[in-house]
Amino acid sequence: MNKLDSAIVESSLRDAGCQFVDNAKDADIVLINTCSVRDHAEQRVMSHLGNLKHIKETRPDLVVGVIGCMAQRLGNELLKQSAVDIVCGPAQIAEIPRLITEAMQEKKKAVAVTEKIRQISPDVQSLERFEIEYSGDDTDIPAQAYVRAMHGCDKFCSYCVVPYVRGPETSRPPEAIIEQAKRLAQNGIKQITLLGQRINAYEYKAGDKTYCLADLLEMISKIDGVEWIKFVTSYPSKKYFKEIMLAMTELPKVCRYLHIPAQSGSDQILKVMNRGYTSAEYLELLDTARQIVPDIAIAGDFIVGFPGETDDDFSQTVDLVKKARYKNSFIFKYSPRPGTIADKRLKDNVPQEIKNQRNHELLRVQEEISRALAAEFTGQTVKVLVEGPSKKAKSTAEHAENAEKKQIITSADSVVSAVRGQLIGRTAGDWIAVFNGPENLAGQFANVKITRSTPLTLFGEIV
Ligand code: 5AD
Ligand code: SF4
Repeated sequence: MNKLDSAIVESSLRDAGCQFVDNAKDADIVLINTCSVRDHAEQRVMSHLGNLKHIKETRPDLVVGVIGCMAQRLGNELLKQSAVDIVCGPAQIAEIPRLITEAMQEKKKAVAVTEKIRQISPDVQSLERFEIEYSGDDTDIPAQAYVRAMHGCDKFCSYCVVPYVRGPETSRPPEAIIEQAKRLAQNGIKQITLLGQRINAYEYKAGDKTYCLADLLEMISKIDGVEWIKFVTSYPSKKYFKEIMLAMTELPKVCRYLHIPAQSGSDQILKVMNRGYTSAEYLELLDTARQIVPDIAIAGDFIVGFPGETDDDFSQTVDLVKKARYKNSFIFKYSPRPGTIADKRLKDNVPQEIKNQRNHELLRVQEEISRALAAEFTGQTVKVLVEGPSKKAKSTAEHAENAEKKQIITSADSVVSAVRGQLIGRTAGDWIAVFNGPENLAGQFANVKITRSTPLTLFGEIV
């Protein structure tokens, strides 16, 4: 979601005549797009703001804006940071060009956030127009773009800040989504990734017809030029699940990839997390997925060290990971978020040291599974969408790290991918492939014969 917001804001600012520079020291305007999901991310923003304060001492005309979830969460409070001129929530990004102009001309500080975040924002219409006008081309990956299918979330998992910063769950009209996808395809986009916090809950009623994600996938499949369609993130629930899996198996453009976070393998913890399913029900969904789409690649998310998580709860999570046989898992240490039910009612009582241990152990278990699954590709030829030179590979890895997505990025992977002349691409199942080839393949599809692998990366040659 944040990447999409950044892409839209970037595109609107280019349109307004802005040029982009690599270093804040050379900029007239610095915007920081923020995430509030974990405290660590917010702490890093605070430290950036500290640095910008120093830069501003010598360059008082520099305009600094904080946008995104942290802006929505903290609002006025962010103005206490002396560097900050603009605070702008996710529903107000259409106002950014105006806010910047005012900040530059009138030296005014401004806050634009949604007052009552759990009500449909009055800014939704202008946001919709803005989003249609400025598409979400991925700034890192040529020929790939994000399209928002849903806003917000109504699930209120007890640990999660998203419902409080992104507002109520709403599905965008299918015609707006299709229109956008068509325009992107006309501009050379080959892969569309549909976004929603619970993308499989997409539901839009128009007259007698109710559209679900499977309908969207079918409609986007018909667009010439679009070759791959992905969607994230799925929530473990039965509603529409079979329909979506059938669409995946029947529509060749739909990538056989499912990111479906379990968060924990302990029914007791799942209950306190307010997830609404048991580990057995979750595994049943994975069975259904694999019955319908046998070669599906599945990825998960886990939180370790949730309040009250015992050794026994954790060992059930380890069991679940072993049974699920994920391609990869994103593993996070519990971080209390102000305003959430877990923060209000539960004590963050698992010591940091235990959180670290559990984090490492789960990574180790996942690494063995990933290693075995990756090894199965040896000798096979896979189709990849080429992202670009391996420098990008490194930055993809750093991105994941920065997002605190503690994947298993082994040092061997980054050493090899730093070699010149190497390209990185991604398979339909979201595996990273590294191979030699010319830079102008970026944004194209290539067939790569895999010769060896590490837990997260396939290595091969173009055929
Ligand atoms: N602490 C740790 N991890 C969290 N996530 C969401 N909220 C928290 C939190 N308070 C993780 C979940 C989610 C992912 C995007 O971030 O695993 O799937
Ligand atoms: Fe957060 Fe749960 Fe909504 Fe996902 S489904 S965004 S974890 S509240």
